[in-house]
Amino acid sequence: MLTPAFKYGACTFEGLRGYQDAALKEVHVFRLREHLDRLRFSMHVMRFDDPPPDEAMRRALRELIRANRIAGDCHIRLMVWVDGDGEQTATGPIGWGMAALPRDADPRVREGIHVAVSSWTRIGDNAMPPRIKVTANYNNGRLSGLQAKTDGYGGVILLTASGHVSETPGACVFIVREGRLITPSHTDDILESITRATVLELARDELGIAAEERPIARTELYAAEEAFLCGSGNEIQPILSVDRLKLGDGQPGPVTRRVQQVYFDAVRGALPARRGWLTPMLGGAAP
Ligand SMILES: Cc1ncc(COP(=O)(O)O)c(C=O)c1O
Repeated sequence: MLTPAFKYGACTFEGLRGYQDAALKEVHVFRLREHLDRLRFSMHVMRFDDPPPDEAMRRALRELIRANRIAGDCHIRLMVWVDGDGEQTATGPIGWGMAALPRDADPRVREGIHVAVSSWTRIGDNAMPPRIKVTANYNNGRLSGLQAKTDGYGGVILLTASGHVSETPGACVFIVREGRLITPSHTDDILESITRATVLELARDELGIAAEERPIARTELYAAEEAFLCGSGNEIQPILSVDRLKLGDGQPGPVTRRVQQVYFDAVRGALPARRGWLTPMLGGAAP
């Protein structure tokens, strides 16, 4: 209980997904390299001593999935923390661990969600940088999530201190205007999301949909034809209304559906050009 990970939230982490490839009897982890790179960056900024090597984490992940006989879709949490009983500036010893749990399809991906704009402000880069995935940051999301839940919403969008749209507690935001995708810039206190980068790349290369990264004002959310949130855990969830103002006809829109289709094609290995994003866990030996 005296560990800096508990006392001060000195714990970095990643949330990843594994997807079943039934034909190949495989479970593929999506964009493992990018998640390990981001974890390394988080540990670097938090000045952790002696971070675990990528190869050790890759090996442990394969063993974890095999030992737990996970043969279907799953969610993986990988955590690295400051262990021991040190003070606030302790940078070691380092502990790490991971868990993988089966996860079924989330109905919110098909049905969409109603979101509110939070009265809580997004944490800022010069205080608790959202660019790094540190558990302590997530109390900002927790407060806004609890408020939204109490008020009967399925999700919540935070604004930056200067009033721009930032992100949700666990996902990035896209809006659609005149058929174009728009998403907040990296300077608007967001995590550098791997799913956001994936959506930008797939929209441009596979769908021919133009995309912009720029500041978004709160009322531009209300003006959007469509919107969705994206993240490894949330995948692609249509946003049906913001602050009870309906977007479009209040149903998941056509651009959102196209993005979902191409995203799920990519994670399930149906886009040959993107198979490099998939790391097999079982070697074709699903239990
Ligand atoms: C605050 C926050 N924003 C965005 C995301 C989406 O990031 P990614 O697409 O890398 O999972 C996450 C999820 O990890 C998150 O926690």
